[in-house]
Order: sequence, then structure tokens, then C-alpha cells
Amino acid sequence: MARKIFHRVWRVVACLAAGAALLLSASCGQQKAVELDAQVIVIGAGLSGLSAAVEMGRSGLNVLVVDMNSVAGGHTMLAGGVAMAVTPLQERLGIEDSAELAYADWMAWTKDGDAEWTRFYASNSRPMVYDWVTEMGVEFVRVAPSHGNSVPRFHFTRGRAAHLVLPIYRTALGMSNISFQWSAQAEELLLSDGRVTGVVVKDLRSGKVRRLTADNVVLATGGFESDVERVLANWIPGLPRPDRLLIGSAISATGSGHDMATGAGAALDKINRHFIYVNGVVDPRDRQQSHALTAGNDQSLWVNASGQRFTNEAGFEKDVLADLVQQKPSTYWMVFDAATRDSFGVRGAAWLNNSSEEHPILDNPNATKRAQSLPELAAMSGLPPDALVQSVEEYNAAIDAGEDTAFGRFAHGENVPPKIQQPPFYAVQVFPVTRKNMGGVAIDRQARALDKSGQVLPGLYAVGELNGSLGINGMFGLDGMFLGPAILSGRVAAQSIVAATTARTNVPEIAPVEPSRNVGEWQPTLTSEGLEAMLAMQRDGYWHFQVSHQLVLERNYECTDCHSAQLPFAPVNDHASRLLQAEVCATCH
Ligand SMILES: Cc1cc2nc3c(=O)[nH]c(=O)nc-3n(C[C@H](O)[C@H](O)[C@H](O)COP(=O)(O)OP(=O)(O)OC[C@H]3O[C@@H](n4cnc5c(N)ncnc54)[C@H](O)[C@@H]3O)c2cc1C
Ligand code: HEC
Ligand code: HEC
Repeated sequence: MARKIFHRVWRVVACLAAGAALLLSASCGQQKAVELDAQVIVIGAGLSGLSAAVEMGRSGLNVLVVDMNSVAGGHTMLAGGVAMAVTPLQERLGIEDSAELAYADWMAWTKDGDAEWTRFYASNSRPMVYDWVTEMGVEFVRVAPSHGNSVPRFHFTRGRAAHLVLPIYRTALGMSNISFQWSAQAEELLLSDGRVTGVVVKDLRSGKVRRLTADNVVLATGGFESDVERVLANWIPGLPRPDRLLIGSAISATGSGHDMATGAGAALDKINRHFIYVNGVVDPRDRQQSHALTAGNDQSLWVNASGQRFTNEAGFEKDVLADLVQQKPSTYWMVFDAATRDSFGVRGAAWLNNSSEEHPILDNPNATKRAQSLPELAAMSGLPPDALVQSVEEYNAAIDAGEDTAFGRFAHGENVPPKIQQPPFYAVQVFPVTRKNMGGVAIDRQARALDKSGQVLPGLYAVGELNGSLGINGMFGLDGMFLGPAILSGRVAAQSIVAATTARTNVPEIAPVEPSRNVGEWQPTLTSEGLEAMLAMQRDGYWHFQVSHQLVLERNYECTDCHSAQLPFAPVNDHASRLLQAEVCATCH
């Protein structure tokens, strides 16, 4: 309770600070004393929202972060690396880079990436992203080459990008002027005299609806790539629509932020730019059969429904996509044999990382067809047997010749894959899959939302994938060019708000949180049976609890591996417990 009051600020502080008399109506014109829930509300505790919150928190602003999920991190929990230029790690590894080179590389690849943001990102990815997160404890350990980059720029932490976002989250938890509301779904922005003044939020667990008010709202809700209908309705210009498109983004990426922004009068820009991947296999655990895992085997041969090769399997994603959507239907089968079975990799869900002897996809007959002969494999997969046999024969002959004259995958005896000849043979069916938005809410150079006439919509900022990751991916996406812009745009918006907030009275002291683990005296009151009963309830607002504890049961974890007196079997929302909770995320992420 104390916290709530603590964070209440008055919209009239500006008048007070200006030395105005305490009698508000007289000295502050029409302005009335309005109790606000925070100076700034950030909607979305993903990478961009947390970055904005930390930046503003450090300047002493009162920030309230709301998120529909019960845990922080957003997509970054599942993501990989960050593209950055001229970093200390590149220097240590002897990689010579420059902002000019990065700018030239990126513009050449993306064709029509936003030139100003691209230049800004090329010059600032080091100070505004690399240095900023490194200072918070993020450690980059590896730089990989990636398409569109003439030198390696794709930076990775140890493990996945959870290790990028969690230190930022921990930093936010260390500030008492940043507070969080979890399982809180934003539904609509509040408008007053053309200014965004807050948001309507529904507590998913209780169903309670509240109006939260603030001087500024930062929308950081991510993209809409989990709404396939919306992706197809805003499909990439010049390409046929695929007849089946799988979902490769997460549960929150429905475009609710786009709807809230447009509902308040904001415009959308480059909304038909998507980074579509060409390696989706249906998640066998998905009841709707609409979600994708992403799979690859760089030693495989790809055939369409007619049993024929149709593209350079080793080509760039954008070229393969153009070839794939021309196929009728727009799907293909990845064909390989026993010799290259181990080159098959799959990711996209935490449950895949089990220690079982059985491969979660290759040994699952619903996901993979396996046969001792190619005609048999074709029959099982619904492919014309003669065509498949012929395609493999031609492919093997090209390998013998050292030259793929049909599709240019290899030449002069270089990069030649092994022949497909050793039974059993495998076929995995693949579909295009949604991934990332490259357009979104229109913004200016301060990440302020713009209306249809290009005017600033007061009080509203749009950051992260919601603004299309600053439009720097243009027509064709680049690896790692989403996480960096999420941090950068979050910070840019925050700096703009800080600069525009003239008076910041009532700033609470920033007291660092010291968590301590207290397992000894704590007696667990729940068992895995009790947990099973809870999971069976399928309650609103418990999505992450359900998916994570499904894994707890499958993997037979002890409850006390994670839970303690400070992390009991009850939702926790004090900063110290949340800090402790953040320590157990890496068990699965
Ligand atoms: C599987 C996968 C792998 C990826 N790998 C990479 C990579 O290697 N490199 C790279 O650069 N990019 C990668 N990306 C893209 C990148 O992860 C995202 O673009 C980035 O994380 C977006 O950050 P964000 O803060 O804008 O949004 P998100 O991370 O999507 O966060 C949005 C937050 O808002 C919350 N939210 C949404 N709607 C509401 C609402 N109505 N009310 C309240 N809360 C709401 C969500 O719960 C979530 O916490 C990947 C994406 C996916 C899906
Ligand atoms: C690997 C770490 C881990 C293990 C092991 C674990 N939990 Fe949890 N538990 C968490 C995390 C993280 C949360 C917060 C999840 C969320 O809010 O989505 C949580 C939350 C909960 C909650 C609160 C859900 C709510 O109402 O918000 C209950 C109840 C719970 N766990 C029960 C159990 C039980 C029972 C066990 C043992 C059978 C167990 N947990 C084992 C990590 C773990
Ligand atoms: C016991 C395993 C487990 C633990 C512990 C766990 N998670 Fe998860 N989490 C999952 C699973 C499973 C998913 C669903 C996606 C998947 O299958 O990979 C998920 C998804 C998420 C997502 C949604 C990602 C997106 O794209 O929107 C977020 C955010 C997240 N977890 C954050 C956390 C945080 C923060 C913690 C620590 C406080 C945590 N998780 C702890 C298992 C776990």
C-alpha cells in the first residue's frame, strides 16, 4: 500500500516548482490538481520498455511499468544476438570496423532502410547499447558473421539474449522510483484535449479494470507477428501471399499496441515490412497446429510438393522466401539421410531442450517421415515418388560433378554437401513463418508518436518493435538489428521525456534492493500433485506460470530448486523477491 502512495505525483508540480502560489486554480490557469499514478507509464516490460524505464528512473522520474505477462523480458528472453559496430569486443578480436562501413553495409542490404536512423545507430550502437548494457553487467563473449555485413558484427552473450535483458531488469528493480504491475493488460489509451494522459488496464487475474494516468505514456508492446491474419492483410509488396504461414513470434505479439496507438490517433508506417523466416516446422505440441519451431539442416536437399528442387538451399533468406511463395502450395520438404541426421537442428521452445535419447522432432513420426527407401519416404510424405527419386539422383550427380548448375548452391568443387544415399532417409515439412515487424507506429527522431498529418501526438512515445525497430531494416531484415534498436529507441524516448519534464519534485530516494535467499526456515506447502491441479485450471493471467511449471513437472525439478521464503508459491511483487526470482530464469531460458 505504501508503495502506491509513494508513487503518486501531482500534475501540478510544474506550477509549484515555478514558484507559484499554493492556491492552484489562481496561479496555474485552467490546470486542476490531478493525482497521477506516475509521471510516466511504460506499457510493456520487454527490452525497449525496460530500457526506457531505467533511463528515466536514473533521471529521477516516477515510472510505472505495466505488462500483461507475469514476468519481464518479452521476446528477448527467447532471442539471440545484437548487431553493433565498432565495439570493444570487435577491437579485442582484431575486427576492423567503422560507423561509415556499417552504415554503407546496412543501407546496401536493406535497400530502403531509414537512412537517418541507420546512420544514428551505426554511430551510437557502441555508446548507447554496448557500453550501456555492459556497465549493467551484460557480457558479450562472441561476434559472429552475418549476412549483409562485410565484417562480423553479430554480438552474443553467453547463452541466449535472456542474459541481455535480465541485467537491465535487475537494474530497474534496484530503483524504488520504478514500480511494476504484472498480469496487467493495457486495453486503451486515455486522451484529454488531444493529449495521451494514461491507459485503461485490465488485471487479467482479477478481471478488474483501472484507469491509470501519467504525464507521458511509452508504448513498448512489441510487434504483431503472432496475428497471421494481420500479417497477411499487410503482406509484403510484390510477393504472392503464402497459403500457409506459421506463427513464429510469441503470445503477446498481437498488435494490441498498434491498435491502442491508432485508436488515439497515431499513424502507422511501413506496416507491410516483415522479416519472414523460411524454416518453420509445425510445433507438434501445439493443439492448433499454427505455431512454428524453426529448423535447419545445411546438408539437406529441399523439394516442393511436386518433388522438385526450387531454390538454392544455401541462399539468403530473402531470395529463398521469394522462391518459396511462388510454389503451389508454398511449402517444402527438407530431405536428408542417416549420414547428416546430426546436422539437423531445431529451436523455438524450451521443451525441446530435454536430455532424452529421443530427438524431439526426428524421432516423432508426426513431425518427421523416415523410411528405408526414397519411394517409401515420398509415399509417406505425400510426394510423387518418381519425382523425388529423380531430384535426389540429379542432386547427387551435381555433387559428383562439384557444380550445382541448376541453382548455384556450390561450384568448382567448393562447399559441396554430401550425397543423399544412406538409409534411413528423412523428410521434414517446412513452411514460411512470421518473425519480426520492420514497420509500425510512425515516430519522429525522439520516438514521439506521429499522427496522420505527421504532427506529434502529445504524451505518446512508441519504442521497440512497435515502431518497426526504427525502420532500419527497410525491405530486408538483418540479423540482430531488432534488439539494438529496441534499447536505443527506448533510451531516445526516455531522454526526450526527461528533457521535456521541467520539474521533478517529489523524487523518491533511490534505495538499492538487497535480496537474500532464505530457504532454511521455509517449508514448502505444495507438492507436484498440488501443482498439477493448479495447472489444470488454465486461468487467465497465468500463462507463463503454466508453461514454465509444465516444464517443472516434466523435468522433475524440486520446488526448492527455485522457491524459498522470499520466493514462495504465491505471486510476489516486491523488488527484493523479484530480484531473487530473476536469478532462476536461466534454468529454462
Ligand atoms: C524467437 C525470436 C528470436 C529473435 N531473435 C532475435 C535476435 O537474435 N536478434 C534480434 O535483434 N532480434 C531478434 N528477435 C526480435 C527481437 O527479439 C524483438 O524485436 C525485440 O525483443 C522486441 O522488443 P520489444 O521491447 O519491442 O518488445 P517485446 O520484447 O515483444 O516486449 C513487449 C512486452 O509488452 C508486453 N505487452 C504486449 N502487449 C501488451 C498489452 N496490451 N498490455 C500490457 N503489456 C503488453 C509483452 O508481454 C512484452 O513483455 C527475435 C524474435 C523472436 C520472436
Ligand atoms: C526452475 C525454477 C522453478 C521451480 C523448480 C519451481 N518453480 Fe514455481 N515459480 C518459478 C517462477 C519463475 C515463478 C513465477 C512464474 C510466473 O509468474 O510466471 C514461480 C511461481 C510459482 C507459483 C505462483 C504462481 C502464481 O500464482 O503467480 C506457484 C504456486 C509455484 N511456482 C509452485 C511451484 C511448485 C509447487 C513447484 C515444485 C513442484 C515449483 N513451483 C517449482 C520457478 C520455479
Ligand atoms: C521452468 C522453466 C521456466 C522458468 C524458470 C522461466 N521460464 Fe519463462 N518461459 C518458459 C517457457 C516454457 C516459455 C514459453 C516459450 C518457450 O517454450 O520457450 C517461457 C516464456 C517466457 C516469456 C515469453 C517470451 C516471449 O517471446 O514473449 C518471457 C518474457 C519469460 N518466459 C520470462 C521469464 C522470466 C523473466 C523468468 C524468470 C523470472 C522465467 N521466464 C523463468 C519457461 C520458464
